[in-house]
Amino acid sequence: MNKLLARAISSIAAITMVFSLAACGGSSSKVESTQSAKPSETAQASEAAAPSTEAAKKLVIGFAQVGAESAWRTAETQSIKDEAAKRGYDLKFSDAQQKQENQIKAIRSFIQQKVDAIVVAPAVSSGWDTVFKEAQDAKIPVILVDRGVDCDPSLYSTFIGSDFIEEGKNACIELAKAMGEKGNIVELQGSVGASAATDRQKGFAEELKNHPDLKIIKTQSGDFARAKGKEVMESFLKSDGKNIQGVYAHNDDMGMGAIQAIEEAGLKPGVDIKIVGVDGIKDAFQAMVDGKYNATVECNPLLGPQVFDAAETLVKGGTVEKWIKSQEGIYPADKAQEALPNRVY
Ligand code: AHR
Repeated sequence: MNKLLARAISSIAAITMVFSLAACGGSSSKVESTQSAKPSETAQASEAAAPSTEAAKKLVIGFAQVGAESAWRTAETQSIKDEAAKRGYDLKFSDAQQKQENQIKAIRSFIQQKVDAIVVAPAVSSGWDTVFKEAQDAKIPVILVDRGVDCDPSLYSTFIGSDFIEEGKNACIELAKAMGEKGNIVELQGSVGASAATDRQKGFAEELKNHPDLKIIKTQSGDFARAKGKEVMESFLKSDGKNIQGVYAHNDDMGMGAIQAIEEAGLKPGVDIKIVGVDGIKDAFQAMVDGKYNATVECNPLLGPQVFDAAETLVKGGTVEKWIKSQEGIYPADKAQEALPNRVY
């Protein structure tokens, strides 16, 4: 009995000692390093300590997505959701169904919920100043993803996405090659007011000046959607029929719609009427392999990792580049077979 009691007492004493040593060691080493450091060293030390503290923090991010109009958009949403899950973030996701007013509502609700950062893929370029200012006043960084805006640049932290003007230029170069530098083009525009549509149109028109025997004879919005692209192409075929030698689609989904319309009109897409689109979706690669599509200009939707790297830096008080540009390729039909197996969206 005595032996047992003695053993119990010594165990309790040993445990107590371990705890007090640990407590002492922890606080005193912190105090020591802060107290012994010079002011400049203290600043460095706390900066160096910040990443691990912040990295450990699970960020709460609000994402105001524009919708689900295309395969590209679905891939972008997935990339952002996957990356948030991988990092253990709480992602508050809102699908605006193509309406800016819904995105504005979502942003206001994210502000109320005091999220760490707001990510938005703007439906249109204009009309953001007020709500972005509200986010700024609440000290919540705003990250633009994929599409740009024309508001005061100090109201958002960064734009992560493509150079749409460059994409338009490259699409024109590819279509000119496919058409043998000659003929009439119809243009399937993206959603009216979206920077992806405005700038792809602008870039294409600029480049067109270098191709004097090519001409745009019709242009209309197909809202970046396959069904709408088909509908618009049907109406172009009705009004201009055999006068059309080329299609410029602001995205591949509308290009896929154009293929269907052309086939239903008894013509051969990719042969009788050449088609070039933007995005680089798998379906476009398959259509090129099948000889129905002539080129796609890649636009990268896999932006999740860049978005959250930027969010982490901004939340820590750091700065990021105002425009984090995407890297993208150009794929004419003869590169499609080789590239198709590696396409992820
Ligand atoms: O803003 C990017 C564009 O929006 C993509 O090209 C298109 O597919 C999407 O819906």
